[in-house]
Amino acid sequence: MKVINNILEITSYLNSFVSTGKKIGFVPTMGALHFGHLTLINTSKDQNDITVASIFVNPTQFNDKQDFEKYPRNTTEDLKKLSEIGCDIVFMPDEKEMYPETDSTKFNLGKLEEVMEGKFRPGHFQGVAIIVNKLFKIVKPNNAYFGQKDFQQLAVIKKLVSTTNSTVNIVSCPIIRESNGLAMSSRNTRLKEEEFDQASLIFSTINQLSNYIANNKFSDFKTWVISQINENKLFRTEYIEIVDTETLEIVTDLKNHKSITCCIAVYCGQVRLIDNIQINL
Ligand code: PAF
Repeated sequence: MKVINNILEITSYLNSFVSTGKKIGFVPTMGALHFGHLTLINTSKDQNDITVASIFVNPTQFNDKQDFEKYPRNTTEDLKKLSEIGCDIVFMPDEKEMYPETDSTKFNLGKLEEVMEGKFRPGHFQGVAIIVNKLFKIVKPNNAYFGQKDFQQLAVIKKLVSTTNSTVNIVSCPIIRESNGLAMSSRNTRLKEEEFDQASLIFSTINQLSNYIANNKFSDFKTWVISQINENKLFRTEYIEIVDTETLEIVTDLKNHKSITCCIAVYCGQVRLIDNIQINL
């Protein structure tokens, strides 16, 4: 496995594969890799000739400085995992390499910036779009792999690809869960043992939603979810929304929707956890 820190080196290294017609798969990450990331790498390895992973904790996507500082970093372990799984190339730039100067690019992300993660983390998706756009230009992958845990991020990246006329094919991969149902996330390493165990409550609650909405007034679902989760003093629900799976428009009644997705953000102390579940109607 080749580890590369600078843009010039990775572009010229990758050019040698592109010129021989090799297909490149790309898994952008912020490190602190878990089994979910490794599943993305494996999917890329199955579908491409060369798999590139990037590790970069992107400062522009953190609206909260403390969250950026506390974001788990574990490069030695990450490189070991990537090497064992057979990743071909790891791009691990530093901040100066990715941001030699302040980048004030603004992407048109439309309504995606106004709801859920967009509303509660102002500027977050602009930061994601800036870094993913830079990484796509550097790696020029055929396919790029993202987990469905970040459901809204996936929509942002698809919008970015269409507004920039990029040819990168975005592959959306299923959420990988811990054995208690908690969606895998790098942030889970910040949970204490008791918090980790009890955080199964998030998925178990949204997993019961289709049953709840089949038997109750639809408009009551928020109150129900919040009461289920906030009843446990370890957790505080930041938002719970049901959106159309395709358009991400907020659903106010179930008419005219084929598939809906319930999205939730919950604080456990300082740790912010997100999850979602798709319900086909
Ligand atoms: O999902 C993530 O880990 C990040 O948002 C990404 C896509 C690597 C951009 O920094």
